[in-house]
Amino acid sequence: MDKFLVQGGHHLSGTVTVSGAKNASLALMPAALLASGTFHLRNTPKLRDVTTMSSLLKSMGMKITFKDHELTLDTSTVQKHEAPYQHVKKMRASIYVLGPLVARFGRAKVSLPGGCAWGPRPVNLHIQGLQKLGAEIEMKRGYIHASAKRLKGARIQFDVSSVGATGNILMAATLAKGTTTIENAAIEPEITSLAEFLLAMGAKIDGIGTNRLEIEGVDELHTADVTTIPDRIEAGTFLVAAAMTGGSVTLDQVNPEHLKAVLVKLEDAGCRITLGPTSIALQAPNELRPVDVTASIYPGFPTDMQAQWIALMCVAKGTSVVTDTIYLDRFKHVPELQRLGAEVTMKENSAIVKGSRQLMGATVMSTDLRASASLILAGLVAEGTTEVLRVYHIDRGYEAIEVKLRQLGASIERAAGEEY
Ligand code: UD1
Repeated sequence: MDKFLVQGGHHLSGTVTVSGAKNASLALMPAALLASGTFHLRNTPKLRDVTTMSSLLKSMGMKITFKDHELTLDTSTVQKHEAPYQHVKKMRASIYVLGPLVARFGRAKVSLPGGCAWGPRPVNLHIQGLQKLGAEIEMKRGYIHASAKRLKGARIQFDVSSVGATGNILMAATLAKGTTTIENAAIEPEITSLAEFLLAMGAKIDGIGTNRLEIEGVDELHTADVTTIPDRIEAGTFLVAAAMTGGSVTLDQVNPEHLKAVLVKLEDAGCRITLGPTSIALQAPNELRPVDVTASIYPGFPTDMQAQWIALMCVAKGTSVVTDTIYLDRFKHVPELQRLGAEVTMKENSAIVKGSRQLMGATVMSTDLRASASLILAGLVAEGTTEVLRVYHIDRGYEAIEVKLRQLGASIERAAGEEY
């Protein structure tokens, strides 16, 4: 397993290009199951999760090539309708094949994802939603078996706003007979991008970008091409890197609209932000102010930026409180940041961060993708060398992060690590 060696103390400066959004790609790829033919997905990020989704779709018979960030998917040869445990355990987003498979082929067998590094992440809303659309669901030996001659439109009200369940039910409803409404639908940009892709495939959807989606089912969808939206979390991570290191960095090929909540907080911390139509420039202050954040659903502060924000607050002057209302246990990075000298205490789903201490390099290990990002960020300002183990987590969701950081003047190397 690779590791990163980060030498702290370099101010970041320059320009970095933001890649396509992981969470958008992971929804767009399975959406192609809804029609037969060839799709082109441009600006797809080169990530381990994209490779995992490709392997899963290939195991169903799909033909996939990936060149210059363009994925070509030929769905005309799909014959298997199963997502085995070996794929799903690697990546929970594999559950996204469930809705499209039942809607188009009338059946699906998808492994239950199981636990997650930061506690329970149920899929009950995906299952209940499909049942409302008339699918027969049986749980057997760790698998969801779903079948339906043809799904039927229904009124679905999610108790919790869920990105994955909204995406799954939205895809399924496009081919159902009749009209489906989804109340309390997620409005994350990745859901909007999925809905727009489905429109391009011939789906009929109203209310895109709002939390009430209305889908009039059609008999058939056709192929379409799409350009993947920029990754707002990758962008936010680079902005935090610039802010922490006293840097001055410009992001290219980004959508500032998708980052409003993060940008406001960075300004509150004292950063100067300049926006262009597809760029964001950040100039760090001499001293960062402490800023409380509460991670919540979009357009709130993203839970996927919570770990990075805690790293940032470790070097602000004063105390801040970082709360996560989506994943109450998503704080596995805290003990690792403490190993670098951070003063963080936990109170329920809030981290109380006492900033301003000089972090000291150490060996740390991450348990998930965004936790890894926060440890790299901390390493950028820690004295000496920080060794971040298990970087396969980072490779799931950041394209060549070390190359991009080096481009900005950071000292970070990938090295072969020991097996664990
Ligand atoms: C997606 C993102 C992930 C992000 C998360 C929250 C992808 C591939 N992943 O994950 O990066 O951190 O949104 O923004 O897009 N819930 C239920 N029952 C369900 C489904 C969800 O109770 O059936 C709950 C979850 O436990 C959580 C909340 O709903 O508390 C939101 O989760 P959800 O939006 O579904 O997250 P994912 O789609 O898994």
